[in-house]
Amino acid sequence: MRRGNIIVGLDVGTTKICALVGEVMDNKIDILAIGSAPSTGLRKGVVINIESTVDSIKRAVKEAETISGVEIRSVYVGIAGGHIKGFESYGAVGIKGKEVRLQDVERVIDSASVVYVPLDREVLHVIPIEFILDGQDGIKDPVGMSGVRLEVKVHIITGAVSSVQNLLKCCERAGLDVIDIVLEPIASAEAVLTEDEKDLGVALVDIGGGTTDIAIYRDGSLRHTAVLALGGNHFTNDIAIGLRIPVQEAERIKKKYGYAITGMADGTEEMDVAGADKQVRKIPRKYIAEIIQPRCEELTELIKREIENISVQELGLSGVVMTGGASLLEGLDRVAEAGLGLPVRIGMPEGIKTSHVSPMQNAVSNPMYSTGIGLILHGSANGTERVFYGDMFNGIFDRMKEWVKNLFGSNGHELRGKTVSMKQRG
Ligand SMILES: Nc1ncnc2c1ncn2[C@@H]1O[C@H](COP(=O)(O)OP(=O)(O)OP(=O)(O)O)[C@@H](O)[C@H]1O
Ligand SMILES: [Mg+2]
Repeated sequence: MRRGNIIVGLDVGTTKICALVGEVMDNKIDILAIGSAPSTGLRKGVVINIESTVDSIKRAVKEAETISGVEIRSVYVGIAGGHIKGFESYGAVGIKGKEVRLQDVERVIDSASVVYVPLDREVLHVIPIEFILDGQDGIKDPVGMSGVRLEVKVHIITGAVSSVQNLLKCCERAGLDVIDIVLEPIASAEAVLTEDEKDLGVALVDIGGGTTDIAIYRDGSLRHTAVLALGGNHFTNDIAIGLRIPVQEAERIKKKYGYAITGMADGTEEMDVAGADKQVRKIPRKYIAEIIQPRCEELTELIKREIENISVQELGLSGVVMTGGASLLEGLDRVAEAGLGLPVRIGMPEGIKTSHVSPMQNAVSNPMYSTGIGLILHGSANGTERVFYGDMFNGIFDRMKEWVKNLFGSNGHELRGKTVSMKQRG
């Protein structure tokens, strides 16, 4: 019999849609099931075919239900795509009493959130970067401190209304309520980054099938997000074109024999490759690296540009953490390390503490599931309130107040690294 809170993360990716069921009990998360189905209705992280996306969601959810024995009604869903934009905002209020109270924090975040957002965009997250009390900056949790003027710097993330609505529509048609929409790189970061990395400065790079999502942290807070329209599928397509073989076969040999640096393996090794005519031929393995190394370097260059865009020298990153299925390509971390001039590690989902040895434990130790696990972590950190996204009339400020309460909690949890997500603009 289940005793904990059940939280379901739904990762709607370009190559696979997966539903992860987690049970939260005594601050431990047990992964009870992973249901997965190939995804064909997305392009570059955005839904372009509702019917096939709904079909894949239903299949993934059904599989997760069968394995876990849990009926799935509501989910935390991830969102990505080139339509996502982030910017910084600032707010200030006077403190009425002599001490900062939770209401003051709510008011100051309210004031930072009063920004012009075009009608075709909606706010997904408002993330406090730091509070400033009477000129003293770098404060993460001002509640209980003395002062007269409270300021806050926040990072606001918006998405295109149409893309958000299409994702919601897919979930709704699959019979699911969406508790919250979470930016995928933020979810992945929750699963793979350590608090030390976030403090020192780190770029989380989630290389999926259709997109590479970037989230940059410094001083414990999210500072920048970006989505690049390049991912593992591009490696596969290059191999298919380069070797003149079907995409499916290119995908198979990429996963089995793929590596990113030409000098890495024995140049004489051969592999069996089936052509479009079904004939199997022997091809030198090094051809794969020759084809995809330039693509890996191109991806590294795009990541570098994104990091430099936010003047990384100023932010002083200490490293890069790669995750997502395509980060499994052998040698990609070394190409990135050389190109970026920063240490690179592969990030596996790590926020899961099992209350007993779960049979799912091994299955989830895969960078493909970072987003899904991160969605569960986000769900457990944000409480188990049942405010559904379907409640379209919940104003932005009401939602924010809910959140701030959740973030601080009655026992004074810090805001550090936490995100405040917006269900809907009023
Ligand atoms: N062992 C492996 N070696 C190389 N690439 C791999 C390996 N395993 C998976 N991949 C690649 O990872 C990609 C899928 O990653 P992931 O499951 O994280 O993507 P997604 O979440 O569906 O897509 P996106 O996040 O872009 O919407 C595919 O391109 C796949 O070929
Ligand atoms: Mg993904």
